[in-house]
Amino acid sequence: MSKPLKLLLVAGARPNFMKIAPVIRAIRARPSEFVHVLVHTGQHYDEGMSEIFFRELEIPSPEHHLNVGSGSHAEQTARIMNAFEPVLTAEHPDCVLVFGDVNSTLACSIVAKKCGYPVAHVEAGLRSGDRRMPEEINRVVTDAIADYFFVTEESGIEHLRIEGKPENRIFHVGHVMIDNLYFEMERLKQGGSESSRIRGLRPPEGAFCVVTLHRPSNVDDKRTLEGIFAAFREISKIHPIIFPVHPRTRSNLERFSIDVPPGVTLSDPLGYREFLALWRDAALILTDSGGLQEETTALGVPCVTIRENTERPITLTEGTNVLAGSRTESIVQAATMMLTKYSSGRSTKRPKLWDGRASERILELLRRELATRSC
Ligand code: UD1
Repeated sequence: MSKPLKLLLVAGARPNFMKIAPVIRAIRARPSEFVHVLVHTGQHYDEGMSEIFFRELEIPSPEHHLNVGSGSHAEQTARIMNAFEPVLTAEHPDCVLVFGDVNSTLACSIVAKKCGYPVAHVEAGLRSGDRRMPEEINRVVTDAIADYFFVTEESGIEHLRIEGKPENRIFHVGHVMIDNLYFEMERLKQGGSESSRIRGLRPPEGAFCVVTLHRPSNVDDKRTLEGIFAAFREISKIHPIIFPVHPRTRSNLERFSIDVPPGVTLSDPLGYREFLALWRDAALILTDSGGLQEETTALGVPCVTIRENTERPITLTEGTNVLAGSRTESIVQAATMMLTKYSSGRSTKRPKLWDGRASERILELLRRELATRSC
């Protein structure tokens, strides 16, 4: 029997962790075919932004922790690259799997390719068309050099074709983050009663909204952030708002002395399970997150995205998402429209292949592709 394939998985920031968990579960179900090595770059490092996800999602401790921490884009990316190279050459994997669009994705892809290792990009091909977004640069550069493209929605296939990627390296597999979402929903149904923290945050009765906000374009400029909070003031008169706050946003709320309206309850960042137990029951989500646009579509929860564009257009055409931009009036208008539209029930439509089996498809494809490669 041939040796199991060694897959090196790169985790860096919060949105990576829920994508890696189901892939590791799938790998562990096939021990004779695959082994994994997990590298955590340490891009996110707070207990609430990192460790809690490892514990709750039962992700094994990383074999390598690079402890890079925060910094400017150049500093952070450079530190990851420096620290990753010796790990990679020591581990000598058959393939490096990178996820999403964070700085760790970009940094490790570049190092892996330059050291001669194949790179598989999970969540490839997404494009906002907005190159002022750091994530868009990370997506474009990662896809420019990756070998295997695992795509979540049709728009990703189109972009990769236009960019000239070989057709036989583009795989529409569905979404590993949705694999994880369904897995965790099942666990919640089976036994997970709400934590006391969630009970404390939720209003005792009636509908509520949930907010997340962390994009530099929304939270780093005082006037923009004030305008967004003016919208929250209006919306919270209809339904109270619960807002777990990202550290970047927390420090800017303090720096700009933003007035938090009485109907808005701020909390520390929540772990995956607590957050899911909260938002699955919300009447409306308001967010600038990429992943939450998709997770809300998967559960049929209405979502207002506080951005001018999205790299995940399927959530608009087939899901429950709408773009509102960052202006007060447009956010209030979109929220009111969505609350009315979904007042009689949730959508049950799901994008193609968002069925909880993307991780298995990825492994099957890697087994086939990497076997051919070594011939
Ligand atoms: C990063 C990703 C973004 C993703 C987001 C999810 C990039 C370019 N951006 O943005 O795509 O949507 O993660 O959260 O990779 N901080 C802490 N504790 C932490 C981590 C960060 O306090 O554990 C603070 C630091 O002050 C840091 C700031 O948050 O400077 C921003 O962190 P950083 O990783 O640079 O970017 P995010 O805004 O989190």
